[in-house]
Amino acid sequence: MDMSTIILGIESSCDDTSASVIKDGYMLSNIMASQEVHRKYGGVIPELASRAHQQNILPVVHQALKEAGVEMSQVDAIAFTRGPGLLGSLLVGTSFAKGLSLATGKPLVEVNHLQGHILSHFIQEPGKEKQLPTFPFLALLVSGGHSQIVRVDDYLKFEVLGHTIDDAVGEAFDKCAKIMGLGYPGGPIVDKLAKEGDSSRFKFAKPHIPDLNYSFSGIKTSLLYFLRDQVKENPNFIQENMADICASFQKTLIDILMDKLLKAVKQTGIKQVAIAGGVSANSGLRDRIKSEGEKRGWTTFIPEFKFTTDNAAMIAITGLFKFQQGLTTSLDVAPISRALEYKE
Ligand code: KG4
Ligand code: ZN
Repeated sequence: MDMSTIILGIESSCDDTSASVIKDGYMLSNIMASQEVHRKYGGVIPELASRAHQQNILPVVHQALKEAGVEMSQVDAIAFTRGPGLLGSLLVGTSFAKGLSLATGKPLVEVNHLQGHILSHFIQEPGKEKQLPTFPFLALLVSGGHSQIVRVDDYLKFEVLGHTIDDAVGEAFDKCAKIMGLGYPGGPIVDKLAKEGDSSRFKFAKPHIPDLNYSFSGIKTSLLYFLRDQVKENPNFIQENMADICASFQKTLIDILMDKLLKAVKQTGIKQVAIAGGVSANSGLRDRIKSEGEKRGWTTFIPEFKFTTDNAAMIAITGLFKFQQGLTTSLDVAPISRALEYKE
């Protein structure tokens, strides 16, 4: 008898439709259809996102099974993102997963998208050696919608030690890029420009927020006023100093993230540190985590690029851990757009 466990994962929380097959922790496929339609609007348009998910989801799931060489009959459970995210987007993935479950009799497993980002560190790939985190570890979860420091005590045991009280750090990247007339999403563009710039050239005020919490809305205002004043003197200020502005501004965001992360390591004594979420693709942040880790004797976990942004492999791996503990979901489940609590 085959004792392996095969999970089909489905992710549709924002603007990427993705499906993945994971067998015993090993990723066999991870298919992604990114939606280009939003780029020209400078942000995700929810109605267009739902429609694109509706168009993409069947071919994406089909392709994920095909590439994995897996028949639907071999799948043990269907994992899907229940939230957080855009409701119309989540509805497409949730409804699809429910329909597939009803048609095939395979159990459903709901997954918290944020938990998925963190547990993406446990995805293994055939033929690739990889060090996995052990418990407990700290995760800095940084994305377009969230910024949290999370203590992870087990696959499904999470504690949020700190979180943003206003904007997420990815949002700060995106909004500031918009102020400077750069495209969407702004994070990767700022990252690229920052590489050519001098990060010590300009100073932006850092917020004073107690505990392990974050705030990123002030820095946006600070950049806005700074640019407004400079442009009054020199209308070409932004164009002439773009790389230095991006580098300085990015450094400020990374400093803010690192200050609280250092504090969390001190408070908990946990020296295993992982980063996750879309902003963990940022090369400045990756370099900083690596160098601070070397300096302070941490074991650091920096995800491969393909696991930083939204993907279904992270949903499938989380689904696997939940399924192994018997945590399945009934067919009357509905998506939830706000952040879910970290519990099963
Ligand atoms: O995790 P994600 O794909 O979606 C959410 O769950 O929010 O994160 C998207 C965010 C966007 O704000 C995007 O600008 C940011 O991640 N991002 C980056 C980089 N790549 C993506 N931010 C900074 N540097 C990057 N290289
Ligand atoms: Zn995400």
